[in-house]
Amino acid sequence: MAALSARLQTILELIPQATLRLVDVGCDHGLLSRAFLEAHPESRALLIDRRPGPLAKAEALLSEQASSGRAEFRLADGLAAWCPTAGDTVVIAGMGGREILGILGRLAEEERFVGQKDFPIRILVQAMRDMPFVREALRRNGARSGGQKLCRDRGWIYSVDLYEVLFSTLKAVTPASVVREEEDWLGTWLWKSIRSEISSPDSGSRFSPQETLAYLRRQQRIAEGEIKGLSSAEVAQREALLTVFAQSIEVLEG
Ligand SMILES: C[S@@+](CC[C@H](N)C(=O)[O-])C[C@H]1O[C@@H](n2cnc3c(N)ncnc32)[C@H](O)[C@@H]1O
Repeated sequence: MAALSARLQTILELIPQATLRLVDVGCDHGLLSRAFLEAHPESRALLIDRRPGPLAKAEALLSEQASSGRAEFRLADGLAAWCPTAGDTVVIAGMGGREILGILGRLAEEERFVGQKDFPIRILVQAMRDMPFVREALRRNGARSGGQKLCRDRGWIYSVDLYEVLFSTLKAVTPASVVREEEDWLGTWLWKSIRSEISSPDSGSRFSPQETLAYLRRQQRIAEGEIKGLSSAEVAQREALLTVFAQSIEVLEG
């Protein structure tokens, strides 16, 4: 059996125990869902991809689970084929942040949800880029951070973030044009961990210093690179953000 990449393994580890059904959006090969179903024999998975080729690969990989009714497949855009149920954890991983926000934003246009009673959903997101925009939109709409992990995979460092949101929140997300908050650049748990590390360096962080530094440096580079397109007020805010990054790096480097 093909082993999971470090990135997919990290996502798997962050799927909450209480998940009854994994909704794997952009499932591609289906490796994540298969590993999840093997580890959780009572659970089910809904695998979605908008391209027939990847979905066919996932169907082949999970044919056993499909025949016992534990895996279902949908050829669809984002969450268009999703009927939310309590116990769902939605995973959207391995795509750009703007694509993820597009998937969440398109839910708002769906008339089939009109009048539907609101309820909490868990959502696990991992964007290959523009993750701060995803965090900003979810936080601004009242999503609660439920966990975060960093991982290194083939020389890159990624963050996987878990949120608990009301279903109405997913329907409301709209992207911001600029991200300002440190918390959105780094993720709620990492930012809290950095702050406590800075105020009491012996506190014992849940993130390793090497991973933290690598992620801070990556986000610092992105924030610096974006300065060109900002207004003068935004440049001032961005410089303040970069100062915080630089100070945090200095403290962590000891
Ligand atoms: C790079 S792969 C990521 C696969 C897996 N989620 C992972 O993290 O390794 C992206 C997959 O998402 C699918 N995809 C991209 N946009 C999508 C959308 N709007 N709706 C459904 N699938 C989408 C692509 O067809 C592709 O199979």
